Amino acid sequence: MTYIEDIGKHVGEEVTLRGWLHNKRSSGKLRFLIVRDGTGYIQAVVFKKGVSEETFEAATELTHESSFTVTGTIRADERAPSGYEMDVISLEPLQVVSKEEEFPITPKEHGIEFLMDRRHLWVRSRRQRAILKIRHEIVKAVRDFLDDDGFTLCDTPILTPAACEGTTTLFEVGYFEENAFLTQSGQLYNEATAAALGKVYCFGPTFRAEKSKTRRHLTEFWMVEPEVAYATVEDMMELSERFISFIVQRVLEKRQEELETLERDTAQLEKITPPFPRISYDEAIEILQKKGSEIQWGSDFGGGDETLLSKEFDKPLMVHRYPSAIKAFYMEPDPERSEVALCLDVLAPEGYGEVIGGGQRTANHDLLLSRLDEHGLSREVFNWYLDLRKFGSVPHSGFGMGIERAVAWICKLDHVRETIPFPRMLYRLTP
Ligand code: 4AD
Ligand code: MG
Repeated sequence: MTYIEDIGKHVGEEVTLRGWLHNKRSSGKLRFLIVRDGTGYIQAVVFKKGVSEETFEAATELTHESSFTVTGTIRADERAPSGYEMDVISLEPLQVVSKEEEFPITPKEHGIEFLMDRRHLWVRSRRQRAILKIRHEIVKAVRDFLDDDGFTLCDTPILTPAACEGTTTLFEVGYFEENAFLTQSGQLYNEATAAALGKVYCFGPTFRAEKSKTRRHLTEFWMVEPEVAYATVEDMMELSERFISFIVQRVLEKRQEELETLERDTAQLEKITPPFPRISYDEAIEILQKKGSEIQWGSDFGGGDETLLSKEFDKPLMVHRYPSAIKAFYMEPDPERSEVALCLDVLAPEGYGEVIGGGQRTANHDLLLSRLDEHGLSREVFNWYLDLRKFGSVPHSGFGMGIERAVAWICKLDHVRETIPFPRMLYRLTP
């Protein structure tokens, strides 16, 4: 089996490729077919005199996105975008797209809703392929980094009995005689496995019934969440900067071609190396007020505030010690200043905003209990979680990074909807 990505190893050889017609140009006795097979693109040249009548006819009739196999000799060609071309010997159509119902996505501009309705076909475009390749590279970099840093993958459940990140964004599902919720985060379970294995992570789909229609929110997204026993919020800042830098540098190393397809300015990405700037929430509020934001101490940043802040720096910005009142129930208060929490958010540069959220978890049993009560969360369903504070409680910390937010930033996309093969959003459940 030969794939286009390996075509350079077959110069002078006769090979068979199996793919789809990306584009076609005709000129007299020549047919120029751009073949794509998922791994790349190559021009296949059909010369009337060099092939059977059937092959020439088939090449002439081939329509956009028709599937076929094509056999020919590979030739190096400096002018070709891929560096190679195929001189066709024979061509076998598999399924020819009818001329009555052509492939709906053409090089002309389509509206976003038209494309989203045809996401199952849109993913075949060069640009979408580049994004999905980069997403894959990011996911692989995430795993490589954590695996090589001594973390153990411990999968966490998707069906859960309770909220982790606030009760307003829960998806409820029937669970036999009870109700269950789709997980908002694997963190609480990570805290249990971290006490067993030291350094753990979970990586899977998470769900938020977000009623917001922004360019940063999906209702189903993938989150990677490391959790470390005996670690502090400062340790998490150090881990976040190494983690993000590793991922960005890996994408730069392995996905130049895809970044080029997206016309990504890679100079911005080259700057992503430790250390990252660190500011407290207090300092962030000062910066925002100086920039003209109306924000007051005590409020959470809006999307606009995050954009303002992240435009101030060329590297991801780490903001720590937010007011406890605007953060989740499990945040450890700062012992020096109990109204702020030992938490951090990492805001991606170029206006992208929050990609990571995390911090240190409440280690004390009684404090955690009172936080549960304050948040109106049932002691009963959190009993197991409270156990972790009864049996060898230690300071511990972790964070979560949303993969789609990271992909949107690294690819410099306008919206997270293009970062996942089939996005789920407030008004979109299909295809
Ligand atoms: O800040 P969040 O809500 O933190 C948590 O869930 C923690 N329990 C994680 C932890 O400490 N283990 O979410 C973490 C990240 C955000 O920074 C963002 O990147 C992403 O998850 N995220 C979303 N991505 C897309 N759509 C949404 N609706 C998202 N909500 C959060
Ligand atoms: Mg957050």
